[in-house]
Amino acid sequence: MASLKNVLVTGGAGYVGSHVIYVLQKTRRYKVISIDNNHNSLSAALARVSQLSKSELPADATEIDWLSTEIDSHTCDLTKPEQIRAVFEKYGKGGIWGVIHIAAYKAVGESTEIPLTYYANNVSASISLLQIMDEFDCNRIVYSSSATVYGTPPIIPIPETTRLQADSPYGKTKVMTETIIEDMCRADKKWCALSLRYFNPAGAHPSGMIGEEPRGRPGNLLPLLAHMAVGRVKDAVLKVFGNDYPTPDGTCVRDYLHIMDLASGHVLALNALGPDSAVFPSDAPAFFKAYNLGKGKGVSVLQIVEAMRKATGFDYKYEIIGRRGGDVPDLTADPTLAEKELGFTAPADLETMCRDLWNFQSKHPLGYSEQ
Ligand SMILES: NC(=O)c1ccc[n+]([C@@H]2O[C@H](COP(=O)([O-])OP(=O)(O)OC[C@H]3O[C@@H](n4cnc5c(N)ncnc54)[C@H](O)[C@@H]3O)[C@@H](O)[C@H]2O)c1
Repeated sequence: MASLKNVLVTGGAGYVGSHVIYVLQKTRRYKVISIDNNHNSLSAALARVSQLSKSELPADATEIDWLSTEIDSHTCDLTKPEQIRAVFEKYGKGGIWGVIHIAAYKAVGESTEIPLTYYANNVSASISLLQIMDEFDCNRIVYSSSATVYGTPPIIPIPETTRLQADSPYGKTKVMTETIIEDMCRADKKWCALSLRYFNPAGAHPSGMIGEEPRGRPGNLLPLLAHMAVGRVKDAVLKVFGNDYPTPDGTCVRDYLHIMDLASGHVLALNALGPDSAVFPSDAPAFFKAYNLGKGKGVSVLQIVEAMRKATGFDYKYEIIGRRGGDVPDLTADPTLAEKELGFTAPADLETMCRDLWNFQSKHPLGYSEQ
């Protein structure tokens, strides 16, 4: 009987993590181990992922198929090495095939106020994770990076060859962690790693069972608009930071991609870390590579507001205020490398992202906390 590969997902209960776990389960090839300290998530998300995966199993599902829908979930803080080690000890040396390292703090503004907290949580904790992986002969990692590594990029759309020059402490934690992982891969060829530079994930699983459910007020535009429409955020007016950028309508432009497309990219990345990888032929100089995961199409803040107005029927009012420090005019990906080498595509359009986001939010106005 075929067996499942154990894959550890850090930040598994979060927005990206929960959708990644769903797509991993859908392959029926992996058994997921999740680590999360629920700093920005609720473990109810994982229960919903399993419920959703089980509901999609065919009538003739095998025991292995059922096993693939289970999640071995650990409430574990990555800043506490002994807690990470306990998870690896459960599986023993070589027992965990690979890691998808998603957990991090992610608020750019907050990172400028409490930089040490960001470096400790995003960089030091990643070092502990890598050390313990090494101890347990687990040397494959897919890392969640971000478009913020590019800072204010000189070329749009942004290719991966662009110089990394993050402005914020958050962005710098992503550059540093990428660099550390790359150095490990250069030093020891048993390591192989892919860094996925996400642009702006949006939307939810089309069932509306799982979605983005941050603790507290959403920091990102789309969930903020969804919370306004559902009445959880009571702001009468949306603040738009600046309309004097060199973009078609003057507001900032970002590259949104559907969360399901982003999540699927992680399975492609895991495949590329396998033995028959075309990405890492045996004579490769280093088994590290970074890919942009985006649609390659920019949309402005005002276009987003309009798309959400159509999806929700909510009459958003907005006012233009001054630029926000740290915002760059345009972050649009050149995703051609990921398409060529990983087979990655992000076909879902903005309308679909807004529809699926609203489907989740309107079905669960209180999100996971209603459970
Ligand atoms: N969502 C975006 O717009 C976006 C864009 C680019 C990159 N990213 C990156 O993607 C990753 C996931 O983002 P997300 O939107 O899912 O965020 P999220 O906050 O929903 O998920 C992150 C998860 O990690 C957990 N976590 C944080 N610190 C931890 C620790 N020390 N130990 C254990 N768990 C911890 C949180 O509780 C949360 O569940 C992050 O690395 C983020 O930097 C996100």
